Amino acid sequence: MDTSKLKIRISTEDDFASIMDVEKQAFGEDDEAQLTADLLNDESAEPLISLLAFYKKEAIGHILFTRVFIDDADSPLCHILAPMAVKPEFQRKGIGGLLIKEGLQILKNLGAEMVFVLGHIKYYPRYGFINNAGRFGLEAPYPIPKEVADAWMVQELKPGAIKNFKGKVTCAETLMKPEYWRE
Ligand SMILES: CC(C)(COP(=O)(O)OP(=O)(O)OC[C@H]1O[C@@H](n2cnc3c(N)ncnc32)[C@H](O)[C@@H]1OP(=O)(O)O)[C@@H](O)C(=O)NCCC(=O)NCCS
Repeated sequence: MDTSKLKIRISTEDDFASIMDVEKQAFGEDDEAQLTADLLNDESAEPLISLLAFYKKEAIGHILFTRVFIDDADSPLCHILAPMAVKPEFQRKGIGGLLIKEGLQILKNLGAEMVFVLGHIKYYPRYGFINNAGRFGLEAPYPIPKEVADAWMVQELKPGAIKNFKGKVTCAETLMKPEYWRE
């Protein structure tokens, strides 16, 4: 793969069809594309970060970060990563990693203090996420069973944020449905 032909940028409204295509191909079904469409239209998800990766002008990867709140805290700016997708023929080439790193940098510049993710316990720690956010008193919106507690992860973008805040995480309305919280 010629990495000089790879480009990542913030998506625009004109990219909607490309985003749907990436999500559908990556997941092999429509559910995550629908979730993405709902989140992109969800005011309570703002400020959101939607990034698209292109290879030779073809959209091949997408990542979305949406706003979350920590209950019982002084509302620091925090986000959750969900979903992320890379077209099957472009997977395992580091594109997912590039999307995460770029997103984290943008969030840092925005002043975000923490980022959460519910996902693969070995993948996300490669990019700074710490397993089992629950042990820091940062609870997921819906209970995460003990056996998969590690899948609920957090990373601080501002030093000390994990120590400074405790409470239950509330996501954008779209994500506040129990079916999205089964790992
Ligand atoms: C998960 C995903 C976004 C990763 O993107 P990527 O560009 O392939 O990721 P990278 O190249 O940066 O990292 C590759 C690593 O991801 C992990 N990985 C990739 N696909 C995986 C899969 N289907 N299952 C488990 N781990 C996977 C592996 O650890 C792999 O490392 P390895 O090649 O050393 O074994 C991509 O595989 C994808 O779109 N999968 C389908 C959709 C999905 O599951 N999304 C995540 C949940 S929201």
